[in-house]
Amino acid sequence: MPYQDLRQFLEVLRKEGELIEIDRPMHLDNEIPKALKQISVYGGPALVFNKNGTDYRFLAGIYATRRKALLAFETTEDKLFDKFLSGLDHPIAPVMCKGAAPCQEVVLTGKDIDIRRFPIPKYSPKDGGPFITPAIPVTRDPETGAPDIGHYRYHVLGPDRLGFYAQVFHRFGKNIIKAQKRGKKLQGAILLGTDPVIAYACQVQGTDTTNDWEVAGGLRGAPVELVKCKTVDVEVPATTELVIEFEVEVDHLAMEGPLGEFTGYYTPASEKPTVRITAITHRRDPYVQGLLTGKPLTENHILKQVPFEASFWRTMNRQFPTIDRIAFRPAGGIQYYLVISMQPRFQGEARQAIMAALASNVRPKWVIVVEPDIDIYSSSDVEWAMSLRVQPHRDVFVVDNVPATHLDPSVDQSGPLETHISSAVGIDATRPVGKPFAEVADVPGWREFKMPELDKWRK
Ligand SMILES: Cc1cc2nc3c(=O)[nH]c(=O)nc-3n(C[C@H](O)[C@H](O)[C@H](O)COP(=O)(O)O)c2cc1C
Repeated sequence: MPYQDLRQFLEVLRKEGELIEIDRPMHLDNEIPKALKQISVYGGPALVFNKNGTDYRFLAGIYATRRKALLAFETTEDKLFDKFLSGLDHPIAPVMCKGAAPCQEVVLTGKDIDIRRFPIPKYSPKDGGPFITPAIPVTRDPETGAPDIGHYRYHVLGPDRLGFYAQVFHRFGKNIIKAQKRGKKLQGAILLGTDPVIAYACQVQGTDTTNDWEVAGGLRGAPVELVKCKTVDVEVPATTELVIEFEVEVDHLAMEGPLGEFTGYYTPASEKPTVRITAITHRRDPYVQGLLTGKPLTENHILKQVPFEASFWRTMNRQFPTIDRIAFRPAGGIQYYLVISMQPRFQGEARQAIMAALASNVRPKWVIVVEPDIDIYSSSDVEWAMSLRVQPHRDVFVVDNVPATHLDPSVDQSGPLETHISSAVGIDATRPVGKPFAEVADVPGWREFKMPELDKWRK
């Protein structure tokens, strides 16, 4: 049975020893981020901070480990990939909620709106202020009406004002531009605290016409139940903990940033459009969700990895059926470092796959292709292939003048964002097709060999 809401998932985390409550007072800026860093480094439980200086409880770390991702998808590591693909292949349309929606138990409008009353930390010491980091804005494509969800950071600037940074090649960014061209303000609603599968659905790399509610329904195995917002023309999942309804004001500019980003570096502050909050609605006694971002590995990376790998594999495998697995490496900020395992059918096919990956909207910076005998999740195996199956002058190539992902600090940051360019590297670490190559020297059958003495020692 899919989770009906965040609270059911939290119950499971609690039972599995993956969630603990902290009842002593903790400071949102000076202490809570340090605790969150510890759970990322040590693979610890999700944390609920009951005394954080506000009237609301603060929850973070629910995506911080792979084990919690498995609990979110109610599966095991060996079945996760196939379960995700099957969900992508069987989208389920959303339904409208009958009766009162929990997310609208409390409705704040007009003078009652003050986002600063909720627990929102400043995660890294040089952040420009408090940031809502796991925010999921829901918007509609102004041309097609297709609903879109994605994760975007929001900088708290005032009681009803948030700064944000929607990169122009992401759908939220594209929707803003489309609305602007039509002389309209884009309306939307930020979700905080949903059934976890909805959060993973945000990171599926699909097309601009995809109905994201259908994707989320497919992944859940049941329709998402929606309710109309109070002040904007958008629908949101009825059981969301906290909803922030808004209008984008492209002419109301304000300084947004800096923020310690998933790249492990601060992105500098700059003047950007803002959103005006038109209503805040929430469940009674809501969990207000946060997420640590910054130097890998944080929950930001875990949250992206599963959906990126499955949805990008689906896209690539259509053209390259001999692709076995793909891995977006968390240390490379997920999207910058991609390893593909495939058995090339003819010489040059690995390079062709690299070029297809580089040309995609994911825009990886490093693409390495290895054969299926290499474990792409093992840095040691991948380094072995790169060291001894590669002749750099033949197998490594650099593509210059490709569009930059704006958050990469190695990119020349001068000039307007749309002028930024990057370069990317392809490494074909497969052995030449149809030519002899030295035989691998390993100890066959070692895995199956019974060694009770070692089993005992390991325990
Ligand atoms: C926690 C988190 C925060 C993110 N914040 C931003 C952001 O502020 N701006 C942005 O352009 N992308 C951000 N991303 C990446 C987008 O969410 C991601 O590319 C997503 O697929 C975009 O969805 P969309 O194109 O459907 O809008 C973030 C990702 C995560 C996991």
